Amino acid sequence: MKIREEVPADFAAMDRVCAAAFATVPYGSPHDSKITGLLRDAGALTLSLVVEDAGEIQGHVSFSPVIIGNRSEGWYCLGPVAVAPESHGKGIGSQLIRDGLARLKDLGALGCVLLGNPAYYARFGFEVQNGLLMDGETSPYLQALNFQGEIPEGEVTFHPAFFEG
Ligand SMILES: CC(C)(COP(=O)(O)OP(=O)(O)OC[C@H]1O[C@@H](n2cnc3c(N)ncnc32)[C@H](O)[C@@H]1OP(=O)(O)O)[C@@H](O)C(=O)NCCC(=O)NCCS
Repeated sequence: MKIREEVPADFAAMDRVCAAAFATVPYGSPHDSKITGLLRDAGALTLSLVVEDAGEIQGHVSFSPVIIGNRSEGWYCLGPVAVAPESHGKGIGSQLIRDGLARLKDLGALGCVLLGNPAYYARFGFEVQNGLLMDGETSPYLQALNFQGEIPEGEVTFHPAFFEG
């Protein structure tokens, strides 16, 4: 199994894996598999990794810039992250996330935020932050991991690619 940066030949398989993975969860939507392509087209895909096994794409994770409060430098969003349903629970998602966070840190990032279940993301060091807001409100799913310095406070503005319409 190899984790590496995406290349154009991966794009279709990445979209398929993402669509299949998000179809297995109640919070998934068809839009989830479009986000990485929209980020890429907008020049906002800071880092995109795939897991390849025997020539097949088994998963991928994307990172894109976020604005927190009035701060637009150094903070990124992790997501979407997806693993092919037949490969869930084998540690692939964890390896992908750990590798992605290490590479993001090496790029000089100050930290990373995401929206997700803390029961999964706590293992990577993410913590729910009451100082972070979405639409002016705290969220039990809005988490951050800082690599350097303090975690900023305020509204988290994700790239428009995350939202439909
Ligand atoms: C989330 C996902 C990427 C994890 O990949 P994976 O390779 O199955 O994960 P791992 O094998 O590294 O870890 C499995 C663990 O994650 C847990 N887990 C997976 N998805 C979870 C979720 N949404 N909420 C809470 N825990 C979750 C499993 O219960 C398991 O827990 P355990 O280690 O305590 O037994 C994968 O399940 C997936 O593609 N899900 C559909 C898309 C999705 O939900 N993406 C994340 C959106 S925030």
